[in-house]
Parts: sequence; structure tokens; C-alpha cells
Amino acid sequence: MPATACEVKVLAHTVVAPNIRLLAVAWPRADKAPHAGQFFMLRCWPDTAAPLLSRPISVHSWDAATGTLEFLYEVRGQGTRLLAALLPGDTLLLTGPSGNGFDAAAAASAGKVAVVGGGIGTAPLYQLVKELAAAGKKPDLYTGFRDEPYGLERFTPLCGRVHVATDSGKVGYHGLVTGILHPEEYDLVLCCGPEPMMKAVAAKCGAAGVKCLVSLEKKMACGVGACLGCTCHTTEGAKSVCKHGPVFDSKEVFGQ
Ligand code: FES
Repeated sequence: MPATACEVKVLAHTVVAPNIRLLAVAWPRADKAPHAGQFFMLRCWPDTAAPLLSRPISVHSWDAATGTLEFLYEVRGQGTRLLAALLPGDTLLLTGPSGNGFDAAAAASAGKVAVVGGGIGTAPLYQLVKELAAAGKKPDLYTGFRDEPYGLERFTPLCGRVHVATDSGKVGYHGLVTGILHPEEYDLVLCCGPEPMMKAVAAKCGAAGVKCLVSLEKKMACGVGACLGCTCHTTEGAKSVCKHGPVFDSKEVFGQ
């Protein structure tokens, strides 16, 4: 399905945690409904102004009944700082939905499922657990944060066991999320977070012989597979993260 560009209105914009924002917009194209793991390119500044590139941000939540699309994002550069200044009623340009995303129906039929997120990598996993719940599956959730977890209250009713690890030890297990994940208890692991964390999760899954799907993050220019700016190396050659991903089998991109 080709991505669509649309000017959309901000419905709400809230601070969830330091540098973490929840942006809700009205997405008017019900015929272009996103699913878990897909992303949009966001832009609220002129084409001619810096930064040059729009910001790719994954779908945190899509509510078809109200046409509300939510993005949970981290403010960490010029583009996201501009986005963070948006107020209800302001408009911005969205292009999407793009990417393959997760196949929740297939995942729901896979047996026991673990969903693993690190930091802001938990953002796309909320839409994923919603879609899994709609397909009759309650996955177990494993999350890793630096210090203070955020946004987990929305996950809890949709998940089985919820596990939290923090680098600081402030909440939950003191250490990396891989310290509490036992992939051999599952048939499928779905993961999004910093690349070193996803590689570590993939390595544990590989050792246990459990299938692992990872959602990669790359800097993107076009977001539609035209510029080759987001190429990643796979066992099948170079692929665009925006077009062929962002979701890949971990064996294809990490070799395990
Ligand atoms: Fe252009 Fe992916 S961002 S090919």
C-alpha cells in the first residue's frame, strides 16, 4: 500500500516523562489505516527549512473508531524538538503508513509469545499488544529502561506477565532485560529497542532455537524505498529498512 501524505491536526500533546512526548493526531484516511510496527514520516516545518529530513516515528496506537493516531517519541534532536513544540489545533504533515510492520495475526497463532522492548523502543509495542489482544493472544511483556519506566500502565491489561528491568535498579530487575528473558519458555519473541539490546535478545533466542522478529531503527530520508539511505545488510543482500522492514527475522539481519 503506497504511503499517503496528509496534513493532520494535533488533538493532544502530553509530556509522559522527561523528554518523552505522546502526540495524538486526527488521521483522516481510514482507508490507509496503519498496523503495528509501521511508521509515518512527520514534519511540522517548511520543506526549505532545516532539518532537511522528516522524522520517521512508529505508530504507538491507532484507534479506528475515532480516527486517532498516537506517536510516543523521544525528544533527542532538532526535528523532534520542533515536533515537541506542537500544540493542540496545530497542523503537521504525515506521510505513511510505511513499512511492513508486525503480522499480529500470524504472531497470535504462534503459541507462546514474548514482547520485548527497550526504552523508547517500547513505543510501537503498544499497538502490537493491542492487535495481539484483538486476535485473542496475551503476550508476556519484558521491558528495559535506563532508570524510570514510562507508559507501561497501558500495556498491563493487555499482557500476561509484565517484567521490568532498569539499568539503575530503581524499578524491577537491576540490569539488562536479557537478564530476565528466558526465550526457551516461548515460541516467538517480538522485539524493539536499541540495536545492542536487540542483538543480545536475538542471540539468546538463537541459542534457544526460538524465532525472533526485530524492528530496526535507521535514519531515513524518503521513507519509501527510493533513496537507499536506510540500507541494512541481510543474509539476502542489502535491503531498505523503510520498505522491506522495519521488521525482520533476527537471523536475516543479525545472523542469529
Ligand atoms: Fe529512502 Fe529508506 S529512507 S530508502
